[in-house]
Amino acid sequence: MKTNMRTSYCNDIDENNIDKSVELSGWASTIRDHGGLIFIDLRDRTGIIQIVSDPEINSKAHAIMEKIRNEYVIQIKGKVRERGENSINVKIPTGRIEIIVEEVNILNTCIPLPFQIDENIDTDENVRLRYRYLDLRRPNINKNFLIKSQTMQIVRKFFEDRQFIEVETPYLTKSTPEGARDYLVPSRIYKNHFFALPQSPQILKQILMTSGFDRYFQIVRCFRDEDLRADRQPEFTQIDFEMSFVNEENIIETTEELIKEIFSKILNLKFESKFERLTYQESMNRFGNDRPDMRFGLELTDITSVFKDTDFKVFKDVITNNGSIKSIKVENASISRKDIDELTLYAQEHGAKGLAWIKVNEDGLQSPIIKFFSESELSDLKNKLDLKTGDIVFFGAGDIEEVNKYLSAVRLKLGEDLKLINYDDYKFVWIVDFPLFINDKNNLTSVHHPFTMPEENNDFSDFTKIKSKAYDIVLNGIELGGGSIRIHKRDLQEKIFEILKISKDEYLKNFEFLLNALESGTPPHGGLALGLDRILMLLTKSDSIRDVIAFPKTQKSSCLLTDAPSKVFSKNQLEELGIELIEDEDQQ
Ligand code: AMO
Ligand code: AMP
Repeated sequence: MKTNMRTSYCNDIDENNIDKSVELSGWASTIRDHGGLIFIDLRDRTGIIQIVSDPEINSKAHAIMEKIRNEYVIQIKGKVRERGENSINVKIPTGRIEIIVEEVNILNTCIPLPFQIDENIDTDENVRLRYRYLDLRRPNINKNFLIKSQTMQIVRKFFEDRQFIEVETPYLTKSTPEGARDYLVPSRIYKNHFFALPQSPQILKQILMTSGFDRYFQIVRCFRDEDLRADRQPEFTQIDFEMSFVNEENIIETTEELIKEIFSKILNLKFESKFERLTYQESMNRFGNDRPDMRFGLELTDITSVFKDTDFKVFKDVITNNGSIKSIKVENASISRKDIDELTLYAQEHGAKGLAWIKVNEDGLQSPIIKFFSESELSDLKNKLDLKTGDIVFFGAGDIEEVNKYLSAVRLKLGEDLKLINYDDYKFVWIVDFPLFINDKNNLTSVHHPFTMPEENNDFSDFTKIKSKAYDIVLNGIELGGGSIRIHKRDLQEKIFEILKISKDEYLKNFEFLLNALESGTPPHGGLALGLDRILMLLTKSDSIRDVIAFPKTQKSSCLLTDAPSKVFSKNQLEELGIELIEDEDQQ
């Protein structure tokens, strides 16, 4: 990219430019003074190139080169020349050439930095986030944002080619329930009133269907005040879309095409078949969760029936209380007692009371609990799990939700520890046939959101058995996106609110505008939203979502760079908003 300060980027120069004159601008990355000659790796966004100054050739430029320190911003003019056979650097694309400096200009200096601008640093993440401007200057992090930008272009082109309209929806809006707490914004004009930042554009995109937009998409920020994890941020970006006159298959197909477009363009992946599908129930049975990592086996097996008459008190009590016993079999395992103890602790951190185990040795079964089981129980177990010498089985007993939760965590840990995961594998899977509601401590809540269409022919006598027209797309154990066909008629939507024990008063206060729209000619419609940042995490093989968000929040939801959230120093500002602080500011 030619500007008044450069003729090209560093990486655009190659052997074809030998003997040509170039002008480059960037940062002084590594500086080596070889008693006479000075070598500097000049870095810009595209990469690095070696520049050399020789006092014999140009003493004026050399005198300036001597003043350059790490991360100074410099502009140089010089000639491209071939490097000597012994000084070729095969690690970088420009490693066969260098620039012999004719003119150099220091554009800015740089103080000593808290960490090096280097690909591999093990600096504490808090330091990296406080000095995010330096962290983002690191080539590997910087590259993530190039890929993010390319992905957004692919998404826009994809939807434009299919006649979708990109529509913006407001950030200052009303609560949109997606299961998290809202971020609230006080209104100055309407005292005691608040906007909510959207947890998603869910309701408004449905309303666009009422308006006849037919196909909507948006790359949109969403805000959710919830506990953060490696793949969760309080503000994140969705690739959000909605379509009218469609069924589940149309939405699934559109999403699948989009994902294939992104992953084939960015990673060169080839897709020969459709993504696999699992029902929610099958996923829970086999993997213990609804976002299964399908890159390895170690599936869960329900073995409650084997122990239905057992004398082993732990299992007996669980079965009496309608609980379940599930197992994970590891074939040919090299797992020591120490590993088992560690794994048990890990299971306990995820809610287990214990993690019973049985090892199949050449001379028979080994386990601290073997003495509690009858011969017939052990032989049933052997048959059911097809046990062979070298295998080890772990057991979880308890409420099915609990067992699934900790055994799915144990499964993932075993997969990682035993190196069963191929990190170059991309295993997509659709989860379908979700229940409409879950019973959370005697509280019925929507599995997705309350606007999800139930399957036809559902028996409404047991709400927990109602299935929904919802679907999630999962990649390598991470939920990439979720969507559904929506309720498009007022009476059914009101019925769902009632089942969820939302009073008429409350649902009218929050959703009357939607209910009015639903009785004003809303067509059948459905859609889905993909987490853009999560997709980027997977595309760039980043461990944390924070590596693909330019200015992310910490695990504790603050921004270390800007120190947000911060106190409001002007009392005036608070008064205008009608806000009085309860806590003494100084005590915080
Ligand atoms: P859902 O709540 O499943 O659906 O969100 C869709 C996708 O958004 C991503 N996501 C997140 N990414 C980072 N940090 C978070 N805190 C976070 N929360 C969600 C996930 C998730 O799969 N309105 C519905 C979509 C629809 O029905 O059309 C919705 O928001 O990748
Ligand atoms: P205890 O009788 O509590 O000493 O447990 C005997 C064995 O069973 C130990 O190996 C425990 O780790 C295991 N255990 C205890 N409770 C459970 C449970 N709920 N699920 C699986 N294993 C358990």
